[in-house]
Amino acid sequence: MVPNRDLSAASESLLLKCKGFDRIECDFGAAKGKFLTESAILNPLVFFFGIEGLSARVARTNKKIERLGLPNALVWRGWGSESLKTLVPEGFLDALHVSFPDPWPKRRHWFRRLVNVDFLQVAASRLKYGGVLRLMTDHQGYFQSMKEGLSAQGGWIEVPWEDGLERPITEFETIFLAKGDPIGRVAVQKG
Ligand SMILES: C[S@@+](CC[C@H](N)C(=O)[O-])C[C@H]1O[C@@H](n2cnc3c(N)ncnc32)[C@H](O)[C@@H]1O
Repeated sequence: MVPNRDLSAASESLLLKCKGFDRIECDFGAAKGKFLTESAILNPLVFFFGIEGLSARVARTNKKIERLGLPNALVWRGWGSESLKTLVPEGFLDALHVSFPDPWPKRRHWFRRLVNVDFLQVAASRLKYGGVLRLMTDHQGYFQSMKEGLSAQGGWIEVPWEDGLERPITEFETIFLAKGDPIGRVAVQKG
């Protein structure tokens, strides 16, 4: 199935599901849903939804959400910045998390990296005024290119990583922390 095909209809469902919550946050590349489900348990007044490209991971996470009876979490299958654009209305998000996107270390594969000029433009348009984009990676070259992309685009203000909400660690963060690898983290607010 084409990953982004059904997302226009899903957008209406997203609007209904997140009604009444204090904040709305998106985890892009939600994988098996560890960060998403744990965030939803720790912060019941926040609606957390994920976008994930692999349908098996989406199904697994949604099953887990159902089993846990979480009213404030859901994940949709989608691919790339187009999925964010189609699913999420403009000026909608309080926070957008992109944690450990695939680094594509070889130069000839950089065009496949998720966080690029196009993605940053869509991210800026989907965040509320004052909403925060939170980027994390273990790949220092990718981290550098993320920061360069943000400063080239302009209009972002760096804010402290700690934001007063309980933030569980992600699946990949667990792996890199155990290895002692340095992790680049940047949180930027849409000014
Ligand atoms: C390296 S994993 C990181 C997972 C998770 N965010 C974490 O920190 O543990 C990247 C995830 O993003 C998904 N992904 C990669 N590229 C994507 C894209 N262009 N659109 C949607 N999902 C994508 C992959 O299927 C995978 O589940």
